[in-house]
Amino acid sequence: MTGFCTNNAVLRFALLLGLLNAMAAGEKEPFSTRKYFFGEGPEISDISNITWAHAVNSIAELEKALNDDTMMLEADISLGTVHGSEQVVPIMAHPPANTSDLSFEVFINRIIRAVDGGAKKGAKLDFKDIKTVEPCLQMLKQLKRKKKISFPVWLNADILPGPVNSTDEPVNATEFLSLASEYSPSSMLSLGWKTNFGCHVRGKYEKSQILEMIEVVGQFNPQVPPTFPVRAGLAAESVEELLLLIATVPGSTLTLWASASDPVDMNNLQDLIDTINTKNLYIDLPFDLIDGPGNNCKESPVVIQNDTNVDNSIVPQDDAVPGGISVNSAMPLLLVALVALIFGCSF
Ligand SMILES: *[C@@H]1O[C@H](CO)[C@@H](O)[C@H](O)[C@H]1NC(C)=O
Ligand SMILES: *[C@@H]1O[C@H](CO)[C@@H](O)[C@H](O)[C@H]1NC(C)=O
Ligand SMILES: *[C@@H]1O[C@H](CO)[C@@H](O)[C@H](O)[C@H]1NC(C)=O
Ligand SMILES: *[C@@H]1O[C@H](CO)[C@@H](O)[C@H](O)[C@H]1NC(C)=O
Ligand SMILES: *[C@@H]1O[C@H](CO)[C@@H](O)[C@H](O)[C@H]1NC(C)=O
Repeated sequence: MTGFCTNNAVLRFALLLGLLNAMAAGEKEPFSTRKYFFGEGPEISDISNITWAHAVNSIAELEKALNDDTMMLEADISLGTVHGSEQVVPIMAHPPANTSDLSFEVFINRIIRAVDGGAKKGAKLDFKDIKTVEPCLQMLKQLKRKKKISFPVWLNADILPGPVNSTDEPVNATEFLSLASEYSPSSMLSLGWKTNFGCHVRGKYEKSQILEMIEVVGQFNPQVPPTFPVRAGLAAESVEELLLLIATVPGSTLTLWASASDPVDMNNLQDLIDTINTKNLYIDLPFDLIDGPGNNCKESPVVIQNDTNVDNSIVPQDDAVPGGISVNSAMPLLLVALVALIFGCSF
């Protein structure tokens, strides 16, 4: 692709995106997470200002995040046992851990209690194992029926294989999306890719991976526009691809995440942020945007390995925007055609 084409495409996509989001906003404010934290007023703050606690997978981490200025609690759900018990249940743990002092049931009820007591918190549930999804969503559905859930709860999973040639098995996309739409259609989804990235391997989100996500989302047509968690070091190299993604799925957003030791080109990352716009971007990074993660890779030899996985997670938004935007399944195709027509160049 030529430089001319690239620059124009980025610029024009940014414009197109602005237009689409304006249309979406006119129809219905899509970010109930934003509303929950910042209210209904015009431009009080944007979603990039939401603060995160990552891997809230123990009682100690949970109490800490409930008592500090964290807004969204990101936590991993695996199948395993709670210390002292032999019963296998959904627990708060990141693989390969399969024990925890915190079950999902205790986790969600503790947040409910904190919110009832006046705290303002949301949760991003990162499902690591498809077997945990149904029991957790059943529990959530019952809690919702009893009007206990009055805060954003996102449902996150890595449902597709991603860069760079990740060999980790994704959570089954069809099963995850079917269960989510059956039990919790008003929850925001956070849909990501398995990734393989670090000092030893560089790469980007490929257009084919983006199109695969667009297709899956189009099939399920979620009631609330999803967010797509993307790993910062890879996302920074994929500005055009990610613009295509969020322009094609109206009202969708990105969530930036990273492992603390990831190499990230901070200039490219800033370009991505400027292009996507912080209104469309949740930022859950373990480093600040001025200093970046530092140069973690100075000493590392360039060796291609295949298994550096860090987990990602961010799930979508909360509840229900009755009559909220739905991703019209005809829309993506229309847009892709439009884009191809207008720009006449490939990405
Ligand atoms: C929100 O973030 C923007 C930068 O994205 C910053 O300029 C602004 O001051 C922040 N607002 C609040 C209320 O923190
Ligand atoms: C947890 O992992 C350990 C070590 O891999 C394994 O021996 C054990 O069977 C696992 N427990 C469960 C409940 O899966
Ligand atoms: C990923 O796979 C492609 C195609 O098989 C190959 O060309 C590329 O070198 C691989 N990249 C890495 C980092 O393994
Ligand atoms: C996902 O699950 C569906 C239904 O159980 C199955 O047909 C499909 O083959 C699975 N997909 C993958 C990639 O394993
Ligand atoms: C990935 O690594 C594992 C062991 O670390 C190895 O057995 C496997 O063949 C590797 N896969 C690829 C595609 O390189």
